[in-house]
Amino acid sequence: MALLEAQHITKRFGGLTAVNSVSLEVDPHSIISVIGPNGAGKTTFFNIVTGIYQPDEGTITLDGQSLVGLRPDQIAAQGITRTFQNIRLFNNMTVLENVLVGQHPRLKSSVWQILLHSRGFKEDERQAEEKARKLLEFVRLGHRRNDLARSLAYGEQRRLEIARALASDPKLILLDEPAAGMNPQETEEATDLIRRLRDDRGITVVLIEHDMSLVMEISERIVVLDYGKKIAEGAPLEIRRDPRVIEAYLGAGAAAALEAQMPHDAPNTTTTSSPQPALPQTPNQK
Ligand SMILES: Nc1ncnc2c1ncn2[C@@H]1O[C@H](COP(=O)(O)OP(=O)(O)OP(=O)(O)O)[C@@H](O)[C@H]1O
Ligand SMILES: [Mg+2]
Repeated sequence: MALLEAQHITKRFGGLTAVNSVSLEVDPHSIISVIGPNGAGKTTFFNIVTGIYQPDEGTITLDGQSLVGLRPDQIAAQGITRTFQNIRLFNNMTVLENVLVGQHPRLKSSVWQILLHSRGFKEDERQAEEKARKLLEFVRLGHRRNDLARSLAYGEQRRLEIARALASDPKLILLDEPAAGMNPQETEEATDLIRRLRDDRGITVVLIEHDMSLVMEISERIVVLDYGKKIAEGAPLEIRRDPRVIEAYLGAGAAAALEAQMPHDAPNTTTTSSPQPALPQTPNQK
């Protein structure tokens, strides 16, 4: 059974259909990318899955349980967390404190225990801090735990967001442009971290990303949105040579031009080793 199953999700903002009958199935322990030009509806789709917006139409289930109508905190408690396209950290809190905040949906103490500083609460607090330290080690920020979040380099801030998202023990993590604005070395570290999320922690990952080399390297499957609609879905090699996808990125006519330049596979062969037209990197505009 799919871990996440979204069926025919539609979201309208006034006259604009930002997400138009998009379906997506995500198997456990997979890494799926959602790509598409600016304004294609990628972030809106994440906002719907995480309960920030309610869909106008469609159904979403996690492990067979419906998520529609739940609040973001309830969805986090069900096992879905995310990072944001525009980094959202508490800049004047320490790195460690930022991760502690992320554990909120999982803390066992009641509000009364916290207010009374009961023994149960102190034990909770000790465990929470130990867990936060481990998560910071995992994202390779252990040495920065007492620094203010705002003093971190850009790539480190993105890793801190991931640590915070991990703090509530998600089954599924949604990463909105985890490599945006990163230099090549930071992008490589981010790629490695995304892989370790799945391989070391068993977390399923869905990511939105404009960096095509990262997407092609890491994804088992890629879903392409354009003007709110899913226009293609498949393995990286299929997606990168799909004329509809190339056209969505480069405009009408480009696919035909690229196709004309490409040496064609011999008939009846299954080889995929012929040169592939590379999808362009779309600049991150946010
Ligand atoms: N709250 C909102 N109110 C009105 N329109 C919105 C709202 N949120 C998103 N939109 C519009 O919906 C469309 C899809 O936006 P979305 O942010 O989902 O795109 P995206 O694929 O994430 O793009 P990008 O790659 O630039 O981040 C855009 O036209 C955007 O202006
Ligand atoms: Mg977006």
